[in-house]
Amino acid sequence: MPGTKSSPKSFARSIAVVALFLAFVALSAGGQPQPAKPTAPSATATADRRDWWKNAVIYEIYPRSFQDSNGDGIGDLNGIDERLDYLKDLGVDAIWLSPVYPSPLVDFGYDISDYEAIDPKYGTLADFDRLVAQANKRHIRVIMDMVMNHTSDKHKWFIESRSSRSNPYRDWFVWRDGKGETATNKGAPPNNWQSYFGHSAWQWDEKTRQYYYHKFYIQQPDLNWDNPKVHDAFKDVVGFWLKRGVSGFRFDAITTLYEDPHLTDEGIVKDEDGNRKINAYGDPQLDDTKTNNLPGVHPVMQEMRATMDKFNSPAFPGTRVLIGETYLPNIGELVKQYGTPDKPEFQLPMDTQVGFINKLDVAAFRAKLNDVETKIGDNTPLLVFDNHDNPRIDARYGDGMHNVDIERVLATILFLSRGAALFYYGDEIGMKTTPPTRKEDVKDPIGVTGWPKEKGRDGERTPMQWDVRPNAGFTKGIPWLPIPPSAAKDNVEIEKSNANSLFAWYQRLIRMKKTNPTVAQGDNTMLDTANTKVLSWMRQTPGAPAVVVSVNFTADPQTVSLSVPGAGSKVTTLLKTPGSADPASLDKINLGPFGVYIGQVQ
Ligand code: GLC
Ligand code: CA
Repeated sequence: MPGTKSSPKSFARSIAVVALFLAFVALSAGGQPQPAKPTAPSATATADRRDWWKNAVIYEIYPRSFQDSNGDGIGDLNGIDERLDYLKDLGVDAIWLSPVYPSPLVDFGYDISDYEAIDPKYGTLADFDRLVAQANKRHIRVIMDMVMNHTSDKHKWFIESRSSRSNPYRDWFVWRDGKGETATNKGAPPNNWQSYFGHSAWQWDEKTRQYYYHKFYIQQPDLNWDNPKVHDAFKDVVGFWLKRGVSGFRFDAITTLYEDPHLTDEGIVKDEDGNRKINAYGDPQLDDTKTNNLPGVHPVMQEMRATMDKFNSPAFPGTRVLIGETYLPNIGELVKQYGTPDKPEFQLPMDTQVGFINKLDVAAFRAKLNDVETKIGDNTPLLVFDNHDNPRIDARYGDGMHNVDIERVLATILFLSRGAALFYYGDEIGMKTTPPTRKEDVKDPIGVTGWPKEKGRDGERTPMQWDVRPNAGFTKGIPWLPIPPSAAKDNVEIEKSNANSLFAWYQRLIRMKKTNPTVAQGDNTMLDTANTKVLSWMRQTPGAPAVVVSVNFTADPQTVSLSVPGAGSKVTTLLKTPGSADPASLDKINLGPFGVYIGQVQ
């Protein structure tokens, strides 16, 4: 049954589409977007730029693994610089860099010891400035990762904090007495809370005889966000990078900023038979209700957004963007992260509902995509299927036989849905999850604590596969993680020369997202909604032809018949799985195993 939907967003968007359409006309004439003249940008260009994030293609770079420029086996900023033309050719609008700040690297950069510098392993501030300038020249924006939940235990704030109970920084972190503590006995941890990385979230500190709280590694003490000085410190940090020309931030682990002040124990999760569930670290699984997604985070985000909105670079006009790492249980919780028009929070909190379904289940995808289209008001979705913390797409969705076809299906959902799209380096060439096979090779500490159930995150952080040279062109030295055997086949060099490769598919989808007004901004409506094998939807925007998309979630050929309200059944192909035939009409679209069809309705 064709879907009918009256969207509350339609009105605002139909005004915006006119401006966008004009911009597209200008773009298609010159092929590539032209930089706005810093002096007097036209009204249209400025409006377009301010809205850039609403249809943005954002690429996550794990800098250690992208490109090594100096032979030490670790990727670096100058390496990213060398690959900017690649990124431009792929068509990305922005790169998000996982942390490059000085760090003892226990959590590979997510344990920051100085927020206003670059770790020498990755380069210098001058390298950073050059990277931003070079990226901007190619119309690529740079987004920094920002970790506000915790610092490294080697950060000067924490070194001060742990030095004595009366130190002015004491209250910057979360210190509590043990339970049943005496002069000679440290007592038990204050409650049952656990670190996401295994075992108690409380670490005893002998010198000042208290426990400190850490949601992540022991070396990542949580900051105390009840302390206004912590807020001020981060406003400064955010300003420091905005002044250097970054286009926004991805706020790390943001839902864990606050904990229950009463230190109430978390509930223990039970399975269907009433037995306690045990996690990969051998601990009982807790319900996370006292340490995650507490409401205190909202005023902080409003404050950060207001701080960020004050900045705008004359050299590169456009709104700065706040992206949130927001793993949340449902759309109702996600929508809160946008804030309100008066008190905005994130422009782009990540929607992990769609991308981490982790199963090719048509009904689940349809329901979640419909949620993100109909339940977030005027806000913009940010879909994401992959990142540096989860096994790659192949491991979560692949069947081992049709992985590339399945990756085409998912990329189609990512880029042909409305909103911003985020993907992870290497997805575009089908990089495979390659976890260590021996405990002694593991680099990510959770892989040591959790072995063999939890092998850590090394498998999704292997070096980018550029070409057929030794070490896949990533380094002339010894790579910090081994190059997967699949690099011989799945690499940029080979895929770029093959018009039917996954890389070519990504590039075409991105181009379509940028140049077809309907794909850039049309509403999403699900079609053929009783079908359990094929997911179909249409995109519609006033003044431009509708676009229909069908993706086959099965290994068997399927045929669908679609109907678009108010349109005939004539359709012209925009893109389809290599080797498949053009349909005669919308009445009969044949799809091969995991086949994709994208067509424009006449
Ligand atoms: C986020 C990061 C992850 C890191 C954690 C602690 O989840 O993505 O890599 O380990 O926060 O900072
Ligand atoms: Ca290096």
